[in-house]
Amino acid sequence: MDEGITKRSEILKNVQMGVGTWAWGDRLFWGYGREYSDDDLQKAFLVSVQKGIDFFDTAEVYGQGKAELLLGRFLKEFEGEVKLASKFMPFPWRLNKKSLLRALNKSLKRLGVSQLDIYQTHMPAPPITLETWMDAMGEAYQAGLIKAIGVSNYNREQLQRAYEALSRQGVQLASCQVEYSLLNREIEQNGIKQLCDELEICLIAYSPLAQGLLSGKYTFEQPPHGIRGRQQNRNYLERIRPLIIEMRRIGADHAGKPPVQVALNWLISKGAIPIPGAKTEEQAFQNAETLTWSLTAEEVKKLDQISAQIHEVKSEK
Ligand SMILES: NC(=O)c1ccc[n+]([C@@H]2O[C@H](COP(=O)([O-])OP(=O)(O)OC[C@H]3O[C@@H](n4cnc5c(N)ncnc54)[C@H](OP(=O)(O)O)[C@@H]3O)[C@@H](O)[C@H]2O)c1
Repeated sequence: MDEGITKRSEILKNVQMGVGTWAWGDRLFWGYGREYSDDDLQKAFLVSVQKGIDFFDTAEVYGQGKAELLLGRFLKEFEGEVKLASKFMPFPWRLNKKSLLRALNKSLKRLGVSQLDIYQTHMPAPPITLETWMDAMGEAYQAGLIKAIGVSNYNREQLQRAYEALSRQGVQLASCQVEYSLLNREIEQNGIKQLCDELEICLIAYSPLAQGLLSGKYTFEQPPHGIRGRQQNRNYLERIRPLIIEMRRIGADHAGKPPVQVALNWLISKGAIPIPGAKTEEQAFQNAETLTWSLTAEEVKKLDQISAQIHEVKSEK
């Protein structure tokens, strides 16, 4: 276990992993409606909650509201309790605090709930200062519309400022959502992870499977379809092969666990909460199975080394 383990906010105290919903309703990037259906997503939702994964991350912009609508529908039919995190997009035409409260109310309506567990700013974006959004978040918190506040895609300085802006209102910044995986360890280098540890801000790791690459199913010969295939060039898939081989070897030592579970367990060992996207029942099931086992310290170290060789990142300590 990493020495600098991120401490948990109250809301996320017992949460080890969540489910990401960017693909729920997104046609352009993920192929919703062609490669998977609402029925697939509902099954992914149900198998997740049945297996104890009850934290869902969404955003007003995912599928232009469709992800929140689907999640709301699945929740209504499920009739059980889950933890919901959504995000506010600071579009340049959103110029004052009221626009955050309006967006929040729309998200609540689409989700069919009266309160969110976490509301996050999706990214920093001028012209409005992040302090303005933190003030608006504070108001939503005081009004009981949200239980906790998070940020996403902030750099170290912005994270510190958000923390201080909320502290002035007597509120703890609960979470910081950033890209983090065996193929992207930037936050170990740029001070974000260290600051989260110091300030007890919960680290939520997005794209924990590097958008499917860490499943090991994509190769030089078989790259992903669509935009992802163009982004992740085939030479890169060749470069990450030694890591995938090691992940398979480690998985084999744990009764044949797949690479996705190795990738997610590596993040958990770092004190982060991974939120893998799942489009089908099978994917959600496989991801949830991660919590049935864990990596040894030696295995974490080996994965650290091999992933560092790919990106020439220096190890954290
Ligand atoms: N805050 C932000 O700016 C931000 C940005 C990005 C993401 N996020 C959040 O993070 C979540 C996760 O990130 P992500 O969706 O970008 O990427 P990811 O979780 O790294 O990858 C998800 C993709 O991997 C594949 N996959 C998932 N489980 C699998 C399994 N068990 N076996 C094989 N393949 C599997 C699926 O795609 P294929 O089957 O098509 O390969 C799935 O759509 C998002 O849904 C969203 O909630 C936030």
